[in-house]
Amino acid sequence: MPGIKLTVNGRLYQVDVPADTTLLELLRDYLGLTGTKEGCGKGECGACTVIMDGLAVDSCLIPAAKADGAEIQTVEGLASPDGRLHPLQEAFIGEGAVQCGFCTPGMIMSAKALLDRNPNPSREEIKDALAGNLCRCTGYAKIIAAVEKAAAVMGTPAGGGRIEGSRSGRGAALLSSQEREE
Ligand code: FES
Ligand code: FES
Repeated sequence: MPGIKLTVNGRLYQVDVPADTTLLELLRDYLGLTGTKEGCGKGECGACTVIMDGLAVDSCLIPAAKADGAEIQTVEGLASPDGRLHPLQEAFIGEGAVQCGFCTPGMIMSAKALLDRNPNPSREEIKDALAGNLCRCTGYAKIIAAVEKAAAVMGTPAGGGRIEGSRSGRGAALLSSQEREE
């Protein structure tokens, strides 16, 4: 399937992939963005969550073709270019919310989609936003605490300017051609 153009973390890519490629496969296998994980591959676990045009989606369920023209954010796009972590990443570390580690990117992207549209969510709203991200190890208490902490940090004047991951990337000029012979 020639010529899927999409913006990922502010960079514009053009990618040729087979017709049955998922967005998850495009990101991991063609763009090398392996921060997004595959758990179930069936839309059940949320490990593959990315933000597509502002919404948290299971990238394992999205045909790559549907991402043509879309703007995607993955966990790789959250830290600033100088390596400074996004407040959500800092909060997950600080609150001990990085549990098995495999699910964390998806959890963080679901949380980011929430905070982008609702900077001051209630605990119930945080739970709802994370409902599609399954944790089978310990629980959600630290994860919810981390999202609350990040919201508090991002809501302060000092922290408010640090939402680098929310940069839209619209207008990004870099066009990378990622093509693979299958
Ligand atoms: S890998 Fe996509 S929801 Fe589980
Ligand atoms: S965070 Fe992955 S199973 Fe709990």
